[in-house]
Amino acid sequence: MFNKLKSEKITNETDIQLDNVPKHIAIIMDGNGRWAKKRGLPRVAGHREGMNTVRRTVRQANRYGVEALTLYAFSTENWKRPKTEVEFLMRLPERFLTKELPELMEQNVTVRVTGEIDKLPEYTRRAVENAVIETAGNDGLILNFALNYGSRAEMVQGIQSICQEVKDGNLLIDDIDESLFQSHLMTHDLKDPDLLIRTSGEIRLSNFMLWQLAYSEFWFTEVLWPDFKEEDFQKAIAVYQTRQRRYGGV
Ligand code: FPP
Repeated sequence: MFNKLKSEKITNETDIQLDNVPKHIAIIMDGNGRWAKKRGLPRVAGHREGMNTVRRTVRQANRYGVEALTLYAFSTENWKRPKTEVEFLMRLPERFLTKELPELMEQNVTVRVTGEIDKLPEYTRRAVENAVIETAGNDGLILNFALNYGSRAEMVQGIQSICQEVKDGNLLIDDIDESLFQSHLMTHDLKDPDLLIRTSGEIRLSNFMLWQLAYSEFWFTEVLWPDFKEEDFQKAIAVYQTRQRRYGGV
């Protein structure tokens, strides 16, 4: 995978074409814990620093005219982490949104959330729902937090809801196609990501948007999320712009 990256060397990293920026970028923000460990700090210090990277990345995406930025902030599997870390992670949306909401408004950003939010603590849900309501009138960058999100669970729920419609006599089995299935996913009103970025050198999807990423371009970097800087984001986009998307064609 990294060999592939070498062959995609960008000669001038600042050279991105603003008329060919991925419309939807999804990011698996990984490596916070390792960033902290390297500095002899508790894991949560990495998450705190990761929040600063979120702030930077949102501003940059907005500057480039990206339509949607989905950030994997908490997976359905992350509940397995130590209780104190989970509690810290659950406080982050509140901390981030309380501080950033005025700037998000100024930047015309719309906050969205994808995931099972009814299973989140009340304070987390309230913070996110409030931001969603406050920013609903904006029409700039969609900042979509994947929170308590798991792709397999999302698809199972979608199947259940389709089956219910069939059972109720509102849908014929023959009417089930890709577009109908897509309309039953939590991301039904978002375009599929054009580009997936994962930091920290892990080359896997970890149950993230398995359906939606079918034709996305992937870009992996060994940079840990708290160290992910503007030039890294720029490079990801520049590499994306060198790829030829064929969607199975020639
Ligand atoms: C993965 O790193 C990161 C997470 C599970 C949490 C992501 C959260 C943030 C980046 C903070 C910003 C969030 C909001 C809502 C503003 P890891 O802990 O698995 O790192 P490791 O693999 O090095 O242990």
